[in-house]
Amino acid sequence: MNVLVTGGAGFIGANYVLRRLRTSDDRVTVVDALTYAGNLESLKAVEENPALSFHRADITDSDAMEKIFEETKPDAVVHFAAESHVDRSILGPRVFTTTNVLGTQVLLDCSKKHGVQRFVMVSTDEVYGSLGKTGLFSETSPLKPSSPYSASKAAADLVALSYHHTFGMDVVVTRCSNNYGPLQFPEKLIPLMIINALEDKPLPVYGDGMQIRDWIHVEDHCAAIDAVFAKGMAGEVYNIGSQNERPNIEIVKRILAHLGKPETLIRHVEDRLGHDRRYAIDPTKTEGALGWVPEKKFEDALPATIDWYLANRTWWERVRSGAYREYFEAQYAQRLAD
Ligand code: NAD
Ligand code: DAU
Repeated sequence: MNVLVTGGAGFIGANYVLRRLRTSDDRVTVVDALTYAGNLESLKAVEENPALSFHRADITDSDAMEKIFEETKPDAVVHFAAESHVDRSILGPRVFTTTNVLGTQVLLDCSKKHGVQRFVMVSTDEVYGSLGKTGLFSETSPLKPSSPYSASKAAADLVALSYHHTFGMDVVVTRCSNNYGPLQFPEKLIPLMIINALEDKPLPVYGDGMQIRDWIHVEDHCAAIDAVFAKGMAGEVYNIGSQNERPNIEIVKRILAHLGKPETLIRHVEDRLGHDRRYAIDPTKTEGALGWVPEKKFEDALPATIDWYLANRTWWERVRSGAYREYFEAQYAQRLAD
């Protein structure tokens, strides 16, 4: 099977590509624009694998997408590519609407035209908005996105479902909670706090730090996506989460403790605009229908993640310095021009 993976140079996409190449005989075609969040160095371990091909292209560019679909004839699409950071969507919403909504629609059109057999839309639990102190998000919870990011993801998620309803396309949607693990861009809470702590810099906690997120290890998310890919029913939505709610301040304190750094590094700073207070996923449907269960335990997997950043200092230092952006030119620009 030929699987086209969009956003395969990003955090979850790269973890997914590594997993797919490790666990299947599939050909994997990565399509990624290499925005600031796309890092081909994350795929270095598999760059010589003949089953992998890489196309640097923007999913909103319908001519470029048409060409790639025509050339590679994918059987299935797993769609990760997106602008993914809530804070950036508050500073500049426009690219969120174009990439996340228009980009998804372009991919759906190409998939429809080229007879793609399965389209996996990687959405997010943020489409449900914020919870109070109790309750969980189920697949039938109302969509009430709060940020320009989550609103654009909700729109994309619904456009994808509309292609099933209207055109009979085989579309499945996943809505997952907050991911952590190796290869995450250091703008997100966990890698940002690890790196700041390592450098004895202040750790900026928004507001009171009592906002709750439901953390899942990226490998458990990728395994769930494969379960949805293999066994999900067309037109259905699958929530993904590992029942692991934590207030942000707890995460920050755990990171400091693991690194032996003082809590005096914590700085409570001005809150995020429109900040969602609590997310929590009910994964009953996905676990029951697909037989997937998360394997990682936060108590072990958070320290292992911190240790990954300790052991892979070069990876994140090159991200911070911008050097990772030169890698594409050195490694691929000439080869692709030949
Ligand atoms: P990321 O920001 O790390 O990666 C996004 C990737 O998409 C990058 O490689 C980037 O270059 C690429 N991209 C961006 N715009 C593009 C465009 N116009 N054309 C082609 N490629 C483009 O994001 P992530 O955290 O890996 O998230 C991946 C997906 O999973 C997103 O759709 C996100 O909404 C969803 N999601 C993320 C989380 C999480 O906790 N990170 C949780 C649930 C769902
Ligand atoms: O729930 C799934 C979503 O999780 C995904 O759809 C998004 O792509 C992903 O970015 C993530 O969104 P969050 O906004 O929850 O993640 P972030 O890491 O930015 O923030 C996690 C929490 O930590 C949130 O409550 C805000 C807080 N925070 C974040 C940063 C970057 C801080 O307190 N300080 C910070 O500096």
